Amino acid sequence: MTGESSPRRYFDNAATSWPKAPSVAPATHAWLEGITASPGRGAYHEVGRAAAVMARCRQGLCSLIGGGDPNQIVLTLNCTDALSLAIEGTARSARRQGRAVHIVTTDMDHNSVLRPLRDLEADGVRSTRVPADPVTGLVDPRDVAAAVTKDTRLVAINHGSNVSGSIQPLAEIGAACRRAGVPLLVDAAQTIGHRDVDVDSMGIDLLAFPGHKGLLGPLGTGGLWIRPGHTADLAPVRLGGTGSRSELDVQPTTMPDRYESGSHNMPGIVGLDAALQWILSEDPDTVYRRDSELTAFMLERLLMVDTVSVLGPTDPDHRCGVFSVVTDTCTPAQLAERMEAHHGILGRHGIHCAPAAHRTFGTLQAGGAFRLSIGPMTTLEDVEAAVDGLAQATSCTSRVAVPA
Ligand SMILES: Cc1ncc(COP(=O)(O)O)c(C=O)c1O
Repeated sequence: MTGESSPRRYFDNAATSWPKAPSVAPATHAWLEGITASPGRGAYHEVGRAAAVMARCRQGLCSLIGGGDPNQIVLTLNCTDALSLAIEGTARSARRQGRAVHIVTTDMDHNSVLRPLRDLEADGVRSTRVPADPVTGLVDPRDVAAAVTKDTRLVAINHGSNVSGSIQPLAEIGAACRRAGVPLLVDAAQTIGHRDVDVDSMGIDLLAFPGHKGLLGPLGTGGLWIRPGHTADLAPVRLGGTGSRSELDVQPTTMPDRYESGSHNMPGIVGLDAALQWILSEDPDTVYRRDSELTAFMLERLLMVDTVSVLGPTDPDHRCGVFSVVTDTCTPAQLAERMEAHHGILGRHGIHCAPAAHRTFGTLQAGGAFRLSIGPMTTLEDVEAAVDGLAQATSCTSRVAVPA
């Protein structure tokens, strides 16, 4: 069967989810058809309506993460933007107080953590990357605790790996950070909307997340939740007009305006709000349970394909629905091409913006891996088709030899 006659099955939810929640397109369309006012800019009816949608969006996000006051949610462009604010804002604040800055992260973290840290080296910021187990991709909380020094201002760690799906033991890491008196920043890019993320029980001080992956909102959405009381240690990094305290030429200190300068992505926020209303109406625990069950099913099926190796934990309790595979029979790029052309399966090959994670698994030099990632709309039938396609696509030996 060719890709033209097979249905196209989307397995790139780790990049951005598809399909979105059914409410997203109608809500966004209706929004764009009306008077698209900008919240905080004016006092007419449509401005109030925009502000109300934005407030409900923050409320929905807060209720999912146990975040309390919705104004502690800063709406951002994506998860990268939220991580940049958390990392650069922490470094800027500490340096202004004349304090040395050391930040702990891990080899499993994404370039949206690794790159800001490398960039800040030019400003004297030091960082330590805690290694992960080369088979499971899991980090030992004791190693995180051991990496903390008297100058450590932040521990930044991803919850679920976008390479191997490995879920880090956040509650233990959070407890270790609390004992050391160091704030914990969590990158929930691959877990929010898929797994329960609870800022209190996990000891999280800063939670960065996308709106466009597991939360099923449009691209261009995301957020950073900031624990009340933490703003003194987090300087704003994007400053400008907020529509509030316009008589002042200094940044307001009130939340969320302190960190939300410039006009908002209202079409995106309307879509994210609609997606959150849908998730809340489905019951988040049901969504998480279904995701866990599908993850376990897909893992079991993938482990039965003897022509591929699956990176990461073989215990479904330690992973989310992100599966990267390698095979001896073809390169990751060839596998991606075959999966689309012959089976209509859309996945992503390469390094996945996580070079240190691929180095951990020994897959960096060979071009990374081929990744399949599920979302709340993925069906059992999709998983069966993907795993069968993978078995067929890797059954013939045609790995192209690299000329000497
Ligand atoms: C673990 C992880 N962190 C951060 C990001 C960046 O997210 P965004 O695309 O929303 O900027 C991604 C994106 O894939 C990711 O997988």
